[in-house]
Amino acid sequence: TGSADGGGRRVILADPRGFCAGVDRAIQTVSTILDRRSQDASGRSVAGGDLPPVYVRRQIVHNRHVVEDLAGRGAVFVDELGQIPDRAVQAGVPVVFSAHGIAPAVQEEADRRGMNVIDASCPLVSKVHREVHRFVRNGYQIVYIGHRGHDEAIGVVGEAPDRVHLIEHVDDIDSLDFTPDVRLVMLTQTTLSLDETAEVVAALKERFPWIEEPPGSDICYATQNRQQAVKLVAGCADCVVIVGSANSSNSVRLVEVAQSALDRRFAAQGVDAGSGGLGRAHRVDDAGELDPSWFAGLVSVGVSSGASVPEDLVDGVLEALAGLGFDQVTHAETIKENMHFVLPSALRGAGR
Ligand code: F3S
Repeated sequence: TGSADGGGRRVILADPRGFCAGVDRAIQTVSTILDRRSQDASGRSVAGGDLPPVYVRRQIVHNRHVVEDLAGRGAVFVDELGQIPDRAVQAGVPVVFSAHGIAPAVQEEADRRGMNVIDASCPLVSKVHREVHRFVRNGYQIVYIGHRGHDEAIGVVGEAPDRVHLIEHVDDIDSLDFTPDVRLVMLTQTTLSLDETAEVVAALKERFPWIEEPPGSDICYATQNRQQAVKLVAGCADCVVIVGSANSSNSVRLVEVAQSALDRRFAAQGVDAGSGGLGRAHRVDDAGELDPSWFAGLVSVGVSSGASVPEDLVDGVLEALAGLGFDQVTHAETIKENMHFVLPSALRGAGR
């Protein structure tokens, strides 16, 4: 590896990558509302000419391009429901909740104001919310492994703030104090690193041997599949590029997983990957953020993308890499996905 020979430079593309079923559903939700509104002139006049066709609370998915695209089509993004004027609520303008889920307080505010809510929370995030309810009902304290400040974690903790204890790292376990008579269970955010979480879980079990785990992992199928595929790629590429936004949890985890796989591999081979681009994992929002110096002297680049990333952004990266001489594309596939979630019930049925 690592020697440019002027030919045979290649890209190794991870499969699966990109959109998961939850992201696809969330984007389709907003897109469907926009399509229907634009076809429906009378609906528009009822809503008032200057009102937007839809409000979205928070980024529908954590990808800058997706948000800009939907905003360009008329969707208005707000951080909090308080930013939505009463006039719009009275006119019935739909309010979409993002894929990451919401705390009950948000739903309560929406109900109080009589909002026309369409919830695009991923069903696999909602599953964790239901687990919180079930364990709280059964008298448990819940240790939740997640990222402080991330929309998904805020929503889950908000289900029972006095019963859900958020930890991020092994070190945070010191802050927990439970006696063996306390029923304890651990839940996790859906987009964590499998390897890192395994370490936290092991440390939790050591500290609280009676802690229980839910029947299935909370880390979702898409997160697991993308991490496995990127490991395969990092096992044979000189460097790895992940397409995804900086605030996308699963995209950032892919960079970390790729980087540690590269580190392990090059250390095992005794190769000094410390200088130049060899053995590095990078994150870019799009092709414009690629730095040609990353690839100097390399012969293969692994590419993958986060669960919130449209495939045309990956195409753009492949084109730019081809321009740098990486013009052969091979695939590294670990599994075929066929997951699909139906649209929220409010949008199903005959449509218009
Ligand atoms: Fe849902 Fe997992 Fe995607 S929780 S939104 S399927 S990354």
